[in-house]
Amino acid sequence: MSGLAIVTGGARGIGLAIVRALLEQGVVERVAVFDLAEGIIPAEGSLPEVPIYACDVTDEESVRAAYAMVGEVPTVLVNNAGGGRLDRVQDGAEGANDAFDPFGSVESFRAMVDLNLTSAHIVTRVIGPDLKPGAAICNTSSIAGLIASSLFSYGAAKAGLINWTKTMAKALAPKNIRVNAVAPGIIRTQLWEAMQPNQDDYDAMIKEIMPMQQDQSPEDIADAVAFLCSDRASQITGEVITIDGGLTLR
Ligand SMILES: NC(=O)c1ccc[n+]([C@@H]2O[C@H](COP(=O)([O-])OP(=O)(O)OC[C@H]3O[C@@H](n4cnc5c(N)ncnc54)[C@H](O)[C@@H]3O)[C@@H](O)[C@H]2O)c1
Repeated sequence: MSGLAIVTGGARGIGLAIVRALLEQGVVERVAVFDLAEGIIPAEGSLPEVPIYACDVTDEESVRAAYAMVGEVPTVLVNNAGGGRLDRVQDGAEGANDAFDPFGSVESFRAMVDLNLTSAHIVTRVIGPDLKPGAAICNTSSIAGLIASSLFSYGAAKAGLINWTKTMAKALAPKNIRVNAVAPGIIRTQLWEAMQPNQDDYDAMIKEIMPMQQDQSPEDIADAVAFLCSDRASQITGEVITIDGGLTLR
């Protein structure tokens, strides 16, 4: 494959690793990132500079404006932006998101679904009609969308994203456009650093719950995304690859 990839939430964490993997593995030649703040990911070695187009993936007009600035139809679209203010829950901080509360507010529930599910619909609604045969879409779900965790709105949204992936895959298959998803386990990005700031407590948790006694890296997830978006996966669509070191086997 060649051309351009658009990666949402690619400014840091798993998204940034996806940007690098797509370029390093030659899945695309260029990447454009859609993220909250504008900027540039500097060129590194043989990897080109990557522009970041400021937009909010929960806002259609904002995504349309960013896409107009890119001015090119991508061959790969990665709907990765997501997460939410899970970090602010534990201590009841001001403005806390009550994603862990079974009877949490409707407002917070809607915000999590907006960010982790509706955003993929918005971005794909804006870009999808332009995609050409051979294009690939990959969505970042979560193991929270596969099993009962303690994250009500987040888990529901990520589970919805898996069904949406399969339904979209079926709809776009006749156009030879593939749609897949990844379900990451636990990766110590900024999201987890905020939820569990104490490294020792985090390490103890990983030892206790992970069958393989280790967490996953952003690169572990990015490798699976790069594979699913590459021509090597040309007959794979509607699939979800779980990258969780066996956590969901427990
Ligand atoms: N870290 C984990 O353990 C884990 C596990 C399973 C799934 N995930 C999923 O992986 C994806 C990436 O997570 P991460 O850990 O790298 O998180 P992160 O918080 O480190 O990075 C998220 C990126 O998305 C961007 N973003 C957030 N809201 C946005 C919005 N409204 N519009 C545009 N950009 C926005 C942020 O600015 C940031 O660059 C998310 O969908 C998350 O739910 C993460």
